[in-house]
Amino acid sequence: MTNKKTIVIGVTGGIAAYKALDVISKLKKKDFEIHVIMTKAALEFVTPLSFQTLSQNIVSLDMFSEPKAWEIQHISLAKKADLMLIVPATANIIGKVASGIADDLLSTTIMATKAPVIFAPAMNTNMYNNPIVQDNMGKLIKFGYKFIYPESGRLACGDEGEGKLANTELISEFVQSMMYDIKDLEGKKVLVTAGPTIASMDPVRYITNRSSGKMGYAIAEEARDRGADVTLISGDTYIKAPAGVNVINVKTNEEMLNSVIDNFEKQHIVIKAAAVADYKPKNYSEKKIKKSEDEFELKLVKDEDILKKLGTLKKKQILVGFAAESNDLMENAQKKLQVKNLDYIVANDITASDTGFASDNNKVTILCRDGRKIDLEKMSKRQVAKKLFDLINEK
Ligand code: CTP
Repeated sequence: MTNKKTIVIGVTGGIAAYKALDVISKLKKKDFEIHVIMTKAALEFVTPLSFQTLSQNIVSLDMFSEPKAWEIQHISLAKKADLMLIVPATANIIGKVASGIADDLLSTTIMATKAPVIFAPAMNTNMYNNPIVQDNMGKLIKFGYKFIYPESGRLACGDEGEGKLANTELISEFVQSMMYDIKDLEGKKVLVTAGPTIASMDPVRYITNRSSGKMGYAIAEEARDRGADVTLISGDTYIKAPAGVNVINVKTNEEMLNSVIDNFEKQHIVIKAAAVADYKPKNYSEKKIKKSEDEFELKLVKDEDILKKLGTLKKKQILVGFAAESNDLMENAQKKLQVKNLDYIVANDITASDTGFASDNNKVTILCRDGRKIDLEKMSKRQVAKKLFDLINEK
């Protein structure tokens, strides 16, 4: 996804300053334009050269340095910013902004910008819990500033407790989602299922399928970025869980079913991208099955069709299914749309080698309850997710 937006990153003087490099590297990969302002104290921990190299822009340090062009630095950066991120944010910068103090390049830029400002605090746990710091944060929140709260853990000073900079992945994903232009799912709850389920035959063996979970995860990320409150119920996958999403890990059909039913009622949109096992071994052996005869027969019995069940429980929810087909794509998908009482079904041909299961791309047709068929080009799974929500939110 291409984002040609500008993020101004303020680095203040804390031991976590080096982690800002990782945040910048991640945001650069998401194709944002990055400008860095370092405070005097930050220079004691990291060098501007590292930030300059990663951001590919001159690092701004001083309000009174020679301008590169005729522009007032704090005003030009404040105007350039689509978003400001202060990482790490010390008690000092939080206190300064909360008190209206603007005495260096970073604090003046924060004061002068109209862009959203996010603070990612990191400091000693006693400092973080100091009522003055907490009060300052509360004040800033009231004025519309945002916070990515620190985690609990072992801090650089050896203390244990709150104050550790939030995970850099979470910070970069939070920023990305703030910068997303479409926010039409704000206030909506979206439930997504993804990945394969497993059906065990003994303590070491199970039946599963080739689902990678990529499609469902892309849907969860798109929904999150559009402002939804997202729950992702996922079978075992090798891909990283999206930050800012409530992830529930399950293994079997039954666990997925229970988890989906528990969460179903309060949802606005439910999308079942999971590849659920249709059959499970009739008998589960508590002991490992030993090899004996040359032939071994495994009896399978039908397992619950989760989506069909949801179709019967549906009230106001918009219900979306997937149809993985190797033949008669349209007829089979249309049948599933009706039998499972769906609003939309996303049909894909799993025999295509460059799309489908483990691929980052997909080529699908979306069938709507009202009879429309939307044939999409081959595109990334994230793009498919975008098209799907565009369609759902069309009215
Ligand atoms: N699904 C489900 N529970 C199952 C099987 C499927 O919830 N036990 C859901 C899938 O998540 C998907 C849709 O139903 O959204 C269609 O799944 P698919 O595997 O394409 O079809 P099936 O209904 O299993 O039918 P078939 O295997 O005959 O194609």
